[in-house]
Amino acid sequence: MTDLTLVYISLSGNTQSFVKRLSDYLAITHNLTTRQINIKELNHETFPVTEPFIALLPTYLEGGNGVDHGDIEILTSPLGDFIAAHDNAKNCMGIIGSGNKNFNHQYILTAKQYSKRFGFPLLGDFELRGTSADIERLAAVILERQVQWITNH
Ligand SMILES: Cc1cc2nc3c(=O)[nH]c(=O)nc-3n(C[C@H](O)[C@H](O)[C@H](O)COP(=O)(O)O)c2cc1C
Repeated sequence: MTDLTLVYISLSGNTQSFVKRLSDYLAITHNLTTRQINIKELNHETFPVTEPFIALLPTYLEGGNGVDHGDIEILTSPLGDFIAAHDNAKNCMGIIGSGNKNFNHQYILTAKQYSKRFGFPLLGDFELRGTSADIERLAAVILERQVQWITNH
């Protein structure tokens, strides 16, 4: 049995690295086992996720500035499709956005949009592969969110 499910997409490996290091950290510090679902490997296949999960989403937008134009999502939409399919959104405890702050207003914009679209909270963010401090910080946020979720369900 796994204690935590992480659903993510990673095109150039940064989010994948974060997920792996986060999982290792949770195993060592909290003895937690994680199930990792990498949407990129699914080739547009979807299936129901019946346990609560956390989504992790990098940002890939075409052009634009995030204010008045340019929020065309490229490459990451299979994660949105996966969450929308089979009513999976109802089991999503929240989303963590990743990106690069050089993109200014577009930083983690897609995760913010998913939060609005599906109605789950944006739990936090990290840049590129994330630092050890990001892992500690976001692990604490995830664990707190899990407790809150269990209390409310
Ligand atoms: C074509 C392209 C567009 C990007 N657009 C954004 C963006 O709009 N906002 C942002 O915060 N990061 C943007 N990024 C940065 C990526 O989100 C960042 O590199 C992320 O760590 C990639 O995750 P991955 O390696 O797991 O795919 C973009 C990167 C590329 C290559």
